Amino acid sequence: MKIFVNGAAGQLGQEVLSRFSPSDDVRGFSRDEWDVTDGERTRDLLQCERPDVVIHCAAYTHVDRAEDEPIVAYRVNAYGARNVAASCREIGAVMVYVSTDYVFGGERKGGGYDEWDQPAPLNVYGRSKEAGEQLVRQFCPEHFILRTSWLYGVHGHNFFKAIVDKGRTVSRIPVVNDQTGSPTYAGHLVSTIKELIATRCYGTFHTANSGACTWYQFAKEIARQMLLKAQIVPTTSSQFGQKARRPRYSVLSSVSLPAQNVAPLPHWREGVREMSKQWKEDTRD
Ligand SMILES: NC(=O)c1ccc[n+]([C@@H]2O[C@H](COP(=O)([O-])OP(=O)(O)OC[C@H]3O[C@@H](n4cnc5c(N)ncnc54)[C@H](OP(=O)(O)O)[C@@H]3O)[C@@H](O)[C@H]2O)c1
Repeated sequence: MKIFVNGAAGQLGQEVLSRFSPSDDVRGFSRDEWDVTDGERTRDLLQCERPDVVIHCAAYTHVDRAEDEPIVAYRVNAYGARNVAASCREIGAVMVYVSTDYVFGGERKGGGYDEWDQPAPLNVYGRSKEAGEQLVRQFCPEHFILRTSWLYGVHGHNFFKAIVDKGRTVSRIPVVNDQTGSPTYAGHLVSTIKELIATRCYGTFHTANSGACTWYQFAKEIARQMLLKAQIVPTTSSQFGQKARRPRYSVLSSVSLPAQNVAPLPHWREGVREMSKQWKEDTRD
């Protein structure tokens, strides 16, 4: 199977590439090599190379900045995804579109959002990602739309690394305790992506680590596993003052994974444990 990965210099793109073996026919493309907003380039590349699967990791992910530049966010997240979807359909390739818990509004009371709950995004980033979902469904029937959340791994920038870095330089780290979600370890997400591709059971799936916590609880667990001395202190979103509104509750649960006999992702604490182990191994002198 020939697999292309765009957005390959990003957090997830790098994780995907690292989890295939050199004998697999997998090629990554950074934004410089393949800008998905360039419809002609996208079409020419896919027509010429004819991959079987495109894992679409390219995205505009600046949640706060998107409030000030919605056109840029939609250009990449909605119309960039459409370009890839349309070209995938033309060559009969499967498209994997990675989406987000921020398509939900946060009003659900407990139990988590499943794949059949109605999106109601609160911010520009979430709206642009939901628009991308709709365009992928419209332009490429053989798709996987995989909603994930609070993603972290050894590559790129993420909350886990920020807490570890801060925990080594400051004694007190305030973290919001009024947003609840599902932190997801990128390594677990990639395992599920690989498993789903093999099933050919197309559709929308929630692929977050199971369980739920607040950012504060997530940070406490990171500090515990990474033996950080800094004190993690609970705070509120309003005290933090971020530009984009975030859902207070965006836990992702899944009915579609078990319905297709695909294992749910491990508990989020297991993700933190694996990441801590890998981080310690990678940074050992
Ligand atoms: N990170 C999270 O917490 C999270 C949570 C839920 C869902 N997701 C979704 O997961 C996916 C992967 O996210 P991530 O964390 O890996 O984000 P990331 O680290 O920001 O990676 C995104 C990559 O896409 C590239 N890109 C931006 N515009 C592009 C374009 N026009 N053409 C091609 N590439 C372009 C970026 O390049 P530049 O750096 O040069 O801009 C970057 O390398 C995204 O779809 C995101 O919406 C992420």
